[in-house]
Amino acid sequence: MLTVDDVYKSYGDVEAVRGVSLSLAPGEILGLLGPNGAGKSTLLGMISGLLAPDRGTIELPGAGDPRDPQARRSLGLAPQSLSLYEELTAEENLRFLGTLYGFSGRQLAGRVEYCLELAGLEARKRDRVTTFSGGMKRRLNLACALIHDPPLLLLDEPTVGVDPQTRAHLFDQIERLRDNGKGVIYATHYMEEASRLCRRVAIVDHGRLLALDRVQDLIERYGGQSSVRIVLKQQPPPSLSLPGTWQDGIVSWETDTPLDDLVRLAGGGLEWEEVAIRGPDLETVFLKLTGRSLRDDTEQPAAHGAGG
Ligand SMILES: Nc1ncnc2c1ncn2[C@@H]1O[C@H](COP(=O)(O)OP(=O)(O)OP(=O)(O)O)[C@@H](O)[C@H]1O
Ligand SMILES: [Mg+2]
Repeated sequence: MLTVDDVYKSYGDVEAVRGVSLSLAPGEILGLLGPNGAGKSTLLGMISGLLAPDRGTIELPGAGDPRDPQARRSLGLAPQSLSLYEELTAEENLRFLGTLYGFSGRQLAGRVEYCLELAGLEARKRDRVTTFSGGMKRRLNLACALIHDPPLLLLDEPTVGVDPQTRAHLFDQIERLRDNGKGVIYATHYMEEASRLCRRVAIVDHGRLLALDRVQDLIERYGGQSSVRIVLKQQPPPSLSLPGTWQDGIVSWETDTPLDDLVRLAGGGLEWEEVAIRGPDLETVFLKLTGRSLRDDTEQPAAHGAGG
């Protein structure tokens, strides 16, 4: 339902997106995972038709180039920077957008009702957006992207600043949309969100697509070994060879076979208070691909959002 072929975009000297290609199938949530400044919003800006690529093509099958106003009907963008009319009520925001897409009468009322229900905002529909919490605004921002029932959804960090309950609510709704056959691109810098929601994940950094595959395949290919850490109860038997470094009663090591290692150590008489095994995940994949942690700079608020 979407083909992105070798797109580039620079802002002056900043090469925000450098040769990204990807495709999306209906009923798929594709994760776009990368740290601040990776180029996620710029890429979504191009896919949504708000930004023109410097090079490369984007095509929505059946609808053509996303910059064609007709094609815009087939996609909905929930931008990173909220795009809501603060002085209007939730219902008025949705009605207004619905009218722009040509809905009226019963059909418009039906779409507005559906979107309010999806956002869990029926009870607050007559309240102005200024009175909403950050999480409620995020939910309305998502609802606004859905008003015209587009087959393709572009969600740019849809859970920024929301509490765990709202996050869970948003996840349920996004999964429901996927189950109804929507194609979703989900931009995030939270690897937990990408692993939980997405079948395939595109890892981006400094504008480049470093890898795109199923989560499990990425972890198998780039995730490396498990790390194990045990807190000992007493001195290890002198005859036992330890797999890792031993310091202050703690032994830690990396291995492909954490359970086999532990069985061998227990058999050799080693006793421990505590054991922690951490398997490879998207964080270790990112570390392997870039040499940096995904979390290095994720705590700074985004300074801007492309087209938002
Ligand atoms: N309108 C703009 N003018 C100039 N530079 C920009 C503009 N928008 C983005 N950039 C730059 O392009 C690069 C990619 O930014 P982009 O917003 O696409 O990244 P992102 O992955 O969405 O980051 P974040 O996680 O912070 O939202 C960054 O270096 C950013 O500073
Ligand atoms: Mg962004």
